[in-house]
Amino acid sequence: MSIEELTPDAATTGRVFDVERVLAGLTLEEKASLLSGQDFWTTQPVARDGAAGNSAAGNSTSGSEVVPSVMVTDGPHGLRKQADSPDHLGLGNSVPATCFPTAVTLGSTWDPALVRRVGEALGRETRANDVAVLLGPGINIKRSPLNGRNFEYLSEDPVIAGELGAALVSGVQSQGVGTSLKHFAANNQEADRMRVSADVDERTLREIYLAGFERVVKRAQPWTVMCSYNKINDVYASQNHWLLTEVLRDEWGFEGLVMSDWGAVRDRVAGVAAGLDLEMPASGGRTDADVVAAVRDGHLDEAVVDVAARRVLRLVARSLPALAAPGAYDADAHHALARETAAAGTVLLKNHSVEGAPLLPLASGDGVAVVGELARTPRYQGAGSSQVNPTRLDDALTALRAATGVDVPFAAGYTVDGAGQDPANGSGINESALTAEAVEVAGAAETVLVFLGLPASYESEGFDREHMDLPAEQVALLEAVAAVNERVVVVLANGSAVSVAPWQHLAPAVVESWLGGQAGGSGVVDVLLGAVNPAGRLAETLPLRLADNPSYGNFPGELGHVRYGEGVLVGYRWYDARQAEVAYPFGHGLSYTTFAYDGVTAEVLGTVAHAADDDPAVRVRVTVTNTGDRAGAEVVQVYVGDPAAQVLRPERELKAFAKVDLAPGESRHLTLDLTARDLAYWHPVLRRWVVEGGEFVVSVGASSRDLRGSATVVVDGDDLRLPLAELSTVAEALDHPVVGPRVHAMVHGGAVADDMLGMIGDMPLAVVADFGLAGLTRAALTTLLSEANA
Ligand code: BGC
Repeated sequence: MSIEELTPDAATTGRVFDVERVLAGLTLEEKASLLSGQDFWTTQPVARDGAAGNSAAGNSTSGSEVVPSVMVTDGPHGLRKQADSPDHLGLGNSVPATCFPTAVTLGSTWDPALVRRVGEALGRETRANDVAVLLGPGINIKRSPLNGRNFEYLSEDPVIAGELGAALVSGVQSQGVGTSLKHFAANNQEADRMRVSADVDERTLREIYLAGFERVVKRAQPWTVMCSYNKINDVYASQNHWLLTEVLRDEWGFEGLVMSDWGAVRDRVAGVAAGLDLEMPASGGRTDADVVAAVRDGHLDEAVVDVAARRVLRLVARSLPALAAPGAYDADAHHALARETAAAGTVLLKNHSVEGAPLLPLASGDGVAVVGELARTPRYQGAGSSQVNPTRLDDALTALRAATGVDVPFAAGYTVDGAGQDPANGSGINESALTAEAVEVAGAAETVLVFLGLPASYESEGFDREHMDLPAEQVALLEAVAAVNERVVVVLANGSAVSVAPWQHLAPAVVESWLGGQAGGSGVVDVLLGAVNPAGRLAETLPLRLADNPSYGNFPGELGHVRYGEGVLVGYRWYDARQAEVAYPFGHGLSYTTFAYDGVTAEVLGTVAHAADDDPAVRVRVTVTNTGDRAGAEVVQVYVGDPAAQVLRPERELKAFAKVDLAPGESRHLTLDLTARDLAYWHPVLRRWVVEGGEFVVSVGASSRDLRGSATVVVDGDDLRLPLAELSTVAEALDHPVVGPRVHAMVHGGAVADDMLGMIGDMPLAVVADFGLAGLTRAALTTLLSEANA
């Protein structure tokens, strides 16, 4: 039977892939076989010899295939479909595909509409290549700048990760193919990623590490979710019932399939019971047999196997229409979109004036020189499973020469891996000769663009970085160039934050282009020349030093455990709590124009307590004006703080943002709504989201440290009373609305000596009774508790 014949479009084919009928016709062995891969990239088919008229599939074809196999493929910023038969690491040659900017660049766009368009393009390429599911996006939180895979993740903040992740998923899936939201969850490092236990308290998980996943699942319903390799509080994600079933499905309403990361299964039977539907890649039948045996010996209910098999069949069913009509894509249009996105994700960190005018944008190519091998040999994507074979590749040097019509002089200045090799001909060359040549070129120029960045060997899937610094030879080159030319623009290419503090005083202008994909070279030139007015914003803080980062000392852990000791104070939440200086704050990014903010107001829309998660609770208004003489886009950021709460709360947290295009002089009135959930925290004892009534500070600004206006609102809150117990303290009893007054009378009525009053507050009621203080007896305590908890 061909895929066309299995298409669920009964109107055109007369046949339907009826999941329930197929499932009902499968044997236990066949169902178990669906729960693991056929090879590295495909699901297992079910075939029967001589199955003509096979009732299981509900059709009467002469073929023997009851369930077809479908292909899943990396991802996420381009398709990595292996061209040849799969090798055992799945890293062989892949078909050409558009290499879009990596997630670090997408994150810096702060532009869900653009990211959705990238998703649509990725979906078209996935579909055109007969692939059912693109394995991405990755939305793990950037806990440490050192994570080798940060380039594949969007942000240190769950709102950015969730909003942009949802946009990407919706875009891809609009093309009739699926996504795999990964890596679920708490996979925030590469070191020991296959075994380490991420030891994280539930509040931190809920507010930081799960919140982005929750947003994407609720907004965009990814077809699949991929569980991570690591353990969470000692339980492997691949067999974590709380994570995969209670949270993901029961609470968030996830309707799709959960697959394992490649090789993440330790105990297949426990995994099936926990909600892990599909193990990838193939297990050679070993774990299918484990599942069958567990059912036969009564350890696993066959109904649980049915649930997982049904989800695999549903994935197959929803993949069939696109597989029957793959379509094509326009490689030129996708390259143009990759270029637009690369420019949009480029962050202008700094643009000081020299001789009365900012260095950027460049007026033309005249008098400009380019230094740095990365301008000619771009670093445009990260290494590992996400590595794409691009349809073409732009470099900044060629793009600059083409755009300006000037044969801009160039000197390599260094070799990308510092190995003294000339990439053009492989001949051995001397780094100091390269420096001398660069100094000569820079000295003769009016303005020099110095391209610096991290070599591929510094950051990759599979290992973490050891430090945040640029290669020493690159910094030495910059020093030498700056000594002969003060008009230095540094253009960075790297997948995660690098330290800028040691060298940025040498460069009046600094541009962060991240890993911009196959059109990154032309995209960054668009920004340098002002063809695109920069509007990228940092989705991760650039700290002054690695030691300032909140995970420092707890990253990457030791002896199989990594303790998330900083709790909810991740990224800017930590730097703000510590009032620590940073190199560039979260949300920062300059423009070639300027913006003014006026009239920030915040209005409570009604009752917040018990409001549904998505109901608007607070309406924020602001007017933004482009006060310069160039069109540009501003990213308006709304932060919320709860200055007095029972628990430690971050100073402020991003809860909403909007990117607005404004013509010179144009003003726009913006309305951004906050939900009750935006004010809530996860109560560690009540184990639910709560809004604590009282004052909230709503700030609107251009970065987490550039707040342009704020307003205070007072909202009603949830009932946060905990049951009163024998070990509740006197202070807690005093606060109790029912028995508080009585306890007050007991304590302050003279029964407790004045010098004891200070000590007694933290004393458990049972101890007070046992000491015979305040006239409290055990019997009176029992009565008190039952009245309090009635
Ligand atoms: C990675 C996943 C990837 C998978 C398949 C794993 O090692 O963690 O992100 O999708 O391999 O290549």
